[in-house]
Amino acid sequence: MDDLKRLLEMKDVLAVVENAFRLAGLKKVQMPPKMYLFFEKYNGDLRCMPSYIEDLDLSAVKIVNVHMNNPKKHDLRTIMATLVLIDPATGAPLAIMDGTHITDMRTGAASGIASKYLARKDSRSLGLIGAGFQARMQLLAILQTFEKLDDVRVYDILPAASENLVAESTERYRERIRSLTAVDNPKDAVEGMDIVVTCTTSRKPIVKNSWISPGQHINCIGADAPGKQEIEVEILKRAKVVVDNWAQASHSGEINVPFSQGIFSEDDVYATIGDIVVGNKPGRVSDDEITLFCSTGLAIQDVLTAKLAFDAARKNGLGKEFELIQSI
Ligand SMILES: NC(=O)c1ccc[n+]([C@@H]2O[C@H](COP(=O)([O-])OP(=O)(O)OC[C@H]3O[C@@H](n4cnc5c(N)ncnc54)[C@H](O)[C@@H]3O)[C@@H](O)[C@H]2O)c1
Repeated sequence: MDDLKRLLEMKDVLAVVENAFRLAGLKKVQMPPKMYLFFEKYNGDLRCMPSYIEDLDLSAVKIVNVHMNNPKKHDLRTIMATLVLIDPATGAPLAIMDGTHITDMRTGAASGIASKYLARKDSRSLGLIGAGFQARMQLLAILQTFEKLDDVRVYDILPAASENLVAESTERYRERIRSLTAVDNPKDAVEGMDIVVTCTTSRKPIVKNSWISPGQHINCIGADAPGKQEIEVEILKRAKVVVDNWAQASHSGEINVPFSQGIFSEDDVYATIGDIVVGNKPGRVSDDEITLFCSTGLAIQDVLTAKLAFDAARKNGLGKEFELIQSI
């Protein structure tokens, strides 16, 4: 994973994730919705995410888990992933790599791209709900997209988590963020912020409808499995809702709970992010609308980010060659 951290730059990941959304918008990908196994007694799940982009001759499968008790009980991350890059010509594996950092980076980049098309161009403030690994990537990607921010507020149910994020980011972003603070109430990280990101493991709404005002953009990241939810349903009814993929979003994204209850339908979705990137539909059209990106994470974000890492590793002589498949 350390090699990948050295090899992947957020500006490059933003570019490939935008391309992933473009290819999805053009319907030039094979990408069945994620498949899940539910380890209920361990409060965890495992997903399998295959993809193939024919025009680029790229294919991969990612296996990724989400176990919310891992940090406390096992000293392991909530999310861990392994990715196999496949040669479409033979089906043979080209590389096996850590998929955890790839997942982190491409998920941050998805919000960076969504915010580019959906947030107000003059956005200068960001509220982060959740201060884990993903929050760090969200901050990095949104900062890369908007260059400078005046006001960043961080809330986590564990005050030490938000304080740690603020402590480690203050020095790092000294030149680019005027004020970076940990707050002890989620309302303070939402009200009046131009962009809000929810990236917790919550299964109950945290963000209240009454805190949201015209012009705000919300990236909903944490809900990526059935039953997960971070914002009140009424917000979805007021917002221009953009999904990354309808099948995944309706099953496991921020809209999955209201969809299963029959109070949100496909007709309530404005567009996919791919439609917007391709230009089939405009993104934000006025300073007053509330926009919302429901991210579930696409396998094509993974394969394009993995290819970026694979090429960079070969160029820099990183990684280890080993024989896994024998010729007949
Ligand atoms: N949409 C996607 O593509 C995508 C990709 C990766 C991760 N995720 C999801 O994002 C979430 C965060 O992932 P991570 O790697 O940062 O996990 P993490 O465990 O590192 O961080 C989660 C943070 O949320 C905090 N939290 C939990 N419940 C909260 C609540 N009610 N209010 C405020 N804070 C709360 C925790 O204290 C923790 O600091 C997970 O649910 C994960 O499944 C989504």
